[in-house]
Amino acid sequence: MRRSRILGTGSYLPARRVTNAELAARVDTSDEWIVQRTGISARHVAAEGETTSMLATKAAERALEAAGVKASDIDLIILATATPDYTFPATATQVQHALGITKGVAFDVAAVCSGFVFALSTADKFLTSGSHSRALVIGAETFSRILDWEDRTTCVLFGDGAGAVVLEAYDAAGTREDQGILTSHLRSDGRHREKLFVDGGPSTTMTVGHLRMEGKEVFKHAVGMITDVIVDAFAATGYDANTIDWFVPHQANRRIITASADKLNIPQEKVVLTVQDHGNTSAASIPLALDTAVRDGRIRKGQVVLIEAMGGGFTWGSALFRL
Ligand code: UT7
Repeated sequence: MRRSRILGTGSYLPARRVTNAELAARVDTSDEWIVQRTGISARHVAAEGETTSMLATKAAERALEAAGVKASDIDLIILATATPDYTFPATATQVQHALGITKGVAFDVAAVCSGFVFALSTADKFLTSGSHSRALVIGAETFSRILDWEDRTTCVLFGDGAGAVVLEAYDAAGTREDQGILTSHLRSDGRHREKLFVDGGPSTTMTVGHLRMEGKEVFKHAVGMITDVIVDAFAATGYDANTIDWFVPHQANRRIITASADKLNIPQEKVVLTVQDHGNTSAASIPLALDTAVRDGRIRKGQVVLIEAMGGGFTWGSALFRL
């Protein structure tokens, strides 16, 4: 059976770190409120002129280095973002160019905070079909550019960053002991657009727009949607809360992560949390958290990792893999 496995991870954060105290000087908020309600203490913000493709390229270079793979060996790039450099071309093509790759194919996927799970699942399907052999899967965002910095209900929540993985197709035994992606589950439901969206776009307002969110409404749906797709991942593989090694959730809010883990009986020691340092980096949050825990030695080769995300659309999804 053909499977795709992760050979290396990488990530990149812009240099500028913005603390809650700094935001409290700009809008009516406090470090105490932000930490209590979200778990966030700081986030990174891209410099002027620092684009999503630049963050993505740096994360991709680090993932290639960790994987020991040359850029010229990549024949598929899938980049998840809701904050592309331009309306078109796809930001993935700019990363492809920056890495000096002229073969294969590069394209973007738009699933907002679920983007990395959607991109990973899509890459897995390309690689296991036999059409491509080595992929870069990237989540990269500059949400600072679509935030309304006067709106305290949203501007304290998000940050910029990028994360990437290198995936390779290989012939596996076809058991749950295999390395690589063992299952993925994607969902969407467009009825919820107005609960989390950007109020601009080329065919509506001809402007970029700002992020708008009914936070409480999103929160209400999040835990149920997250747990549903995780139950699907457990059912498809036979793994469960006790037999997975790590849970690397989308990092939107510590309370959502804790509630989801509790509902599924996943012990908090297995949960990778980076929301305190990164805020919600949308499509970048899972690969950023994954790379953090791989590089600090927590997540090791051979271990079983569960990822999940939920975001605008709504979109939501899960994947389970052995590193
Ligand atoms: O990644 C995509 C998915 N997105 C998410 O998962 C986000 C989901 N939602 C959330 O994480 C939470 O709903 C928030 C963190 C956005 C808000 O937390 P909450 O516990 O749901 O608070 P709330 O919206 O009910 O607001 C409570 C109070 C309100 O004041 P009143 O009406 O009680 O007087 C808000 O106006 O807190 C006020 N508030 C703030 N106060 C200080 C809202 N934002 C702030 C702020 N600082 N930044």
